[in-house]
Amino acid sequence: MEFTRPRGTKDFLFDEMRRRKEAESLLRNVFENYGYQEIQTPLFEELKLFTTKSGEEIVDQLYNFKDKSDRELALRPEITAPVARLYLNELEKTASKPIKLYYYGSCFRYERPQKGRFRQFWQFGCELIGAKSPEGEAEVIAMCNASIKKLGITTADININHLGIIRGLFAHFGIDVATQRELMIVIDKGDKDLLKESLIGENPIIDNAELNEILLELIDLVGDKSILPQIEALVKGYEEAEEAFAEFKELIETLDSSKVSNYTLNLGVARGLDYYTGIVFEVYVPELGAQKQICGGGTYGLVKVFGGQEVTSTGFAFGFDRLMNAMEELTEQKELESNINVFIAPISDDVRFKAFEIAQTLRENDIATDIDLTRRKFKKLMNYANNKKVKNVAIIGAKDLEDGKITIKNMESGEQSLVNLDEIVSYLKGE
Ligand code: HAM
Repeated sequence: MEFTRPRGTKDFLFDEMRRRKEAESLLRNVFENYGYQEIQTPLFEELKLFTTKSGEEIVDQLYNFKDKSDRELALRPEITAPVARLYLNELEKTASKPIKLYYYGSCFRYERPQKGRFRQFWQFGCELIGAKSPEGEAEVIAMCNASIKKLGITTADININHLGIIRGLFAHFGIDVATQRELMIVIDKGDKDLLKESLIGENPIIDNAELNEILLELIDLVGDKSILPQIEALVKGYEEAEEAFAEFKELIETLDSSKVSNYTLNLGVARGLDYYTGIVFEVYVPELGAQKQICGGGTYGLVKVFGGQEVTSTGFAFGFDRLMNAMEELTEQKELESNINVFIAPISDDVRFKAFEIAQTLRENDIATDIDLTRRKFKKLMNYANNKKVKNVAIIGAKDLEDGKITIKNMESGEQSLVNLDEIVSYLKGE
């Protein structure tokens, strides 16, 4: 019988795990420097938490199941809806705002697996609950930018849009929610020909030529701040869209004063999830090809949809696996040093107990220590230590022990030193 990994999942081996832990710790550092605190939510939730805003269609992308008491549950496809639930259950009445929280954990989506797209993947993300825009939004984007820089992902481009602009136009022309959603899905695909067909083809999704002309021009606008006047001209006279445009402009000014410069205004960013209402952004790393989106986020109103008081929230999530791919592409991958400081090699059976005693003392003193567990001959032990690239080998021989000493071989220089038993700790610590 052969067992294989489930489709769309990954095993992580030693070096990869160490690199992931390192990146995770850098991100924690950045997020905590911005005043965020970590939370954790369950891996599964009630199914309706994810269908309430997004509709039943989302079930296609979910791992959902009934438990033994017939409860409808789903593995979480993302962590924003669970955080909104946690906020309502635990924080709404007690915590002072704004609340800044972050999370790291796996998510599950039933997708067609390919490079950078998995069925189990990890998100590292944050939610800022109850801050005023545009300051809150600018700070969130600045933190996203600081994280990317810290990881050495130099080619990342933050693409920003304000969904209030397009939603304002939808409202003005009285477009129903189902039609809006249908068009947003097309915009999110990023396929310009399909979009053109859907707007001015034979069977346009929206039956309104005036709106379709505006949308066609608007969604195509991508560039730096110099495109702002073009957007302004397109939304002129549509009050709600004008208000959103003013917010968008204010965000850009605040971002400039936060010294964030690697952004692009991109009116074609629609976001796949339904809960966004204001600013949205996606970060692209071109070197990653089809799965170039390493991060997505924006401002949303989920808490109200779940029955709480309206509260402005902004957040984003990095696709952690894609961050790792981007780092592999863009940064020098240094060979990792062994995390074992010393390998203890007893030369003969009669020193075995003493060798264990020494190992124990070293570990109690926070020196990463490995010891022979195979009773192999000395030469084989040295080969093993060499393959493992340990920094030192402590050679334990009966004769040295009689003099209260052991030999420590530095595996890099080849140098050997005779060290007093009561000085091994300070010797290995380089004191
Ligand atoms: P999202 O864009 O659906 O947003 O996911 C965030 C990131 O997760 C994506 O940009 C991508 O890098 C990564 N990702 C998504 N699906 C996969 C997959 N199948 N395999 C590997 N990586 C993937 C959200 O989930 C929102 N909750 C973000 C947010 C937080 N908005 C506000 N707060």
